[in-house]
Amino acid sequence: MVEPQSSLLSVLRDHLKLTGTKEGCSTGYCGACTVLVDGEPVNACLFFAVDADHRSVTTIEGLSPERGELHPLQSAFIESGGLQCGFCTPGMIMSALGLLLAHPAPDEAAVREALAGNLCRCTGYQSIVAGVLEAAPKVRGADAAPARKRARSRA
Ligand code: FES
Ligand code: FES
Repeated sequence: MVEPQSSLLSVLRDHLKLTGTKEGCSTGYCGACTVLVDGEPVNACLFFAVDADHRSVTTIEGLSPERGELHPLQSAFIESGGLQCGFCTPGMIMSALGLLLAHPAPDEAAVREALAGNLCRCTGYQSIVAGVLEAAPKVRGADAAPARKRARSRA
């Protein structure tokens, strides 16, 4: 149960203690609070928690395939040097994942457009874009693997 005026961000961080999602501006400007709702990126600071009722919410904590393992986007950000202080990183990764779910093989311009609402105070944009492009084929593979497994188990 949540207050009707509670933001999704406050419920995630303060009630559920999922502090991977960051609070930056609280006004929809920085993108630090980006999560996926039904697979689409939203600014959790502007999204009423009650509007997430009966919908799927994915935060950065939900990306690891297994405990202790990293999602391909997380690995690619590390390998490309796409994070410095790391404050913007969860939001960047969730926006990138939203893009890759909708467009599995984006070009650089599409990546830049998808991340336009995410600000990095450390200004690591070049490396961030490189990381997303590097991760795209691996994310396609990661999505396909469970589908292949399901198909095998049905056979
Ligand atoms: Fe939500 Fe900045 S904290 S957009
Ligand atoms: Fe520091 Fe982006 S890595 S704000």
